[in-house]
Amino acid sequence: MEIRRTKIVDAIKLTTYDETINVKGWVRTKRGNKNVSFIALNDGSTINNIQIVADASKFSDDLMKDVTTGACLSVVGKLVKSMGAGQAVEIQADSIEIYGKADPNEYPLQKKGHSFEYLREIAHLRPRTNTFGAVFRIRHNMAMAIHSFFHQKGFFYFHTPIITASDCEGAGQMFQVTTKNLYDLKKDENGSIIYDDDFFGKMASLTVSGQLEGELGATALGNIYTFGPTFRAENSNTPRHLAEFWMIEPEMAFYDIKDNMDIAEEFIKYCVKWALDNCADDLKFLNDMIDKSLIERLKSVIECEFVRLPYTEGIKILEDAIAKGHKFEFPVFWGCDLASEHERFLVEQHFKRPVILTDYPKEIKAFYMKQNEDGKTVRAMDVLFPTIGEIIGGSEREENYDKLLKRIQELNIPMKDMWWYLDTRKFGSCPHSGFGLGFERLLLFVTGMQNIRDVIPFPRTPKTAEF
Ligand code: 4AD
Ligand code: MG
Repeated sequence: MEIRRTKIVDAIKLTTYDETINVKGWVRTKRGNKNVSFIALNDGSTINNIQIVADASKFSDDLMKDVTTGACLSVVGKLVKSMGAGQAVEIQADSIEIYGKADPNEYPLQKKGHSFEYLREIAHLRPRTNTFGAVFRIRHNMAMAIHSFFHQKGFFYFHTPIITASDCEGAGQMFQVTTKNLYDLKKDENGSIIYDDDFFGKMASLTVSGQLEGELGATALGNIYTFGPTFRAENSNTPRHLAEFWMIEPEMAFYDIKDNMDIAEEFIKYCVKWALDNCADDLKFLNDMIDKSLIERLKSVIECEFVRLPYTEGIKILEDAIAKGHKFEFPVFWGCDLASEHERFLVEQHFKRPVILTDYPKEIKAFYMKQNEDGKTVRAMDVLFPTIGEIIGGSEREENYDKLLKRIQELNIPMKDMWWYLDTRKFGSCPHSGFGLGFERLLLFVTGMQNIRDVIPFPRTPKTAEF
């Protein structure tokens, strides 16, 4: 009789001793002696392995020599209470089928701990390690938490385009999309490339943000969120930047900056709590192996109230710290864009909890942010987190047609790209707000991993697009 496969996550919880079950997975380790082998099998459904006990009398040496780290097996056997420490049950194998061998002389993931740098070079295999298994299960869970949060609040998941002809952040960091023959580009008399015959008939790029189209959704459906990949050709080789990252961008009609901060704080706490409630085994592993204060830090973030502070006050605190002898790498002055060392100082040393910094100078923020009466600052909000720095960037949006148009002109943003966006302010304009959460920055925080390249399966960064 064919026995249906049991996932290891379920098998290790069974108490139906003596039942014959089937498990399938990859060998993590094999140890033992000439009479018996103990095989730790993992199928990715959980961080935990199930122990397979293989009696030498039942299996040929020929078969057992191919049961090596990395090999894929199907095992049928009897579930029994384990005598050994570390597991409640184990399987006494009756039959072992080898689906795929893994030559010990070639398989790169042997038992010893590898550096994360090395594992990035074998990113096609690293999901099979404990750490990356844990990280990617948590990544899935965070995606579910995000959809659950917004769905439960009546937000609609709105799909914004990945290919676009407008630059949302206006920072000129876009990857161009073209089908043109790059060896034979048609140019006009000024030397500019002619795009008439390109696929879209104009210059097109990968989006840096779905926000502008998200605003079209919000000014029709009320509350929407996007959740998709975004692309930035910024040459930042840091542990917090990717060229391809995922962003969640809620946009809400009739929300002002205060409502925006409230929901951002509630949202991020919901995600962190979801991880604590649903990813206990993986978090415990990461807490033990990667960052001993991880779980404590996650709990403290859900329990505390985030600080809300205008940028100008933040600058004063930083200047005070410098006056008292604190050294920063980058200068601090009113008007400067904060570096992550400044953000982390405010969060980790000064306030010791997350900070929402508001009312930034308009020069360092995007054109669409609502201008304050002072003529100098905008209703921006950045959520700053321990170990990360900026995790969320958002604002109330400028809903006044004339003010928005003036800002677009001041910044020389080409009008022909923006007519449809301006239409939202021309027809039934409304106060509205939104923000963007960097998905991988959230994952850095929740997993305690140090490098953003290690929380996405296949990282894209300057000079790397392998796998
Ligand atoms: O602050 P940013 O650039 O804001 C926007 O794109 C707005 N359109 C969002 C909005 O209001 N709807 O990016 C938002 C967040 C940052 O706070 C950061 O967490 C993340 O996206 N982020 C990156 N994450 C990884 N790699 C990069 N290169 C990132 N750039 C931004
Ligand atoms: Mg930002």
